[in-house]
Amino acid sequence: MSSLPPDVAALRAAADAARANAWAPYSNFPVGAALEAQDGRVFSGCNVENSSYPAGTCAERVALGTAVAAGARRFTRVVITSNQQAPTPPCGICRQALVEFAPTLEVIAVSPSGTMARWSLAELLPAPFTPASLENV
Ligand code: THU
Repeated sequence: MSSLPPDVAALRAAADAARANAWAPYSNFPVGAALEAQDGRVFSGCNVENSSYPAGTCAERVALGTAVAAGARRFTRVVITSNQQAPTPPCGICRQALVEFAPTLEVIAVSPSGTMARWSLAELLPAPFTPASLENV
């Protein structure tokens, strides 16, 4: 398998554990995400689809909502896993959701074979919409 750095491997395992619970019968595209908070806590999420398609939500936003509900608002990294051959970066809506709390987030995607891709969130979402009033999040 892969030779991922141990810290990434742990986050990948958390993302994969959540991905095993994904509800994705419409897309057959299960996704897992593990969001690392600045205080070291890790919050995971999976995509949750719905027969009314727009009601579905992405793994990253499930992880983010869980984290915020637990009081975490600052994040360092997110690891995303899917069943695709190539690592899959977060969708545009998730980029926007994440930038609210983590403008300097490191985004890491890992494929099932262990291929890893890394980006900064700033690279994935240049010129984000972040009103000055949100600086105190
Ligand atoms: N999906 C995610 O969970 N995260 C992303 O960043 C991209 C897309 C989900 C949404 C939907 O359930 C499935 O993948 C196919 O788009």
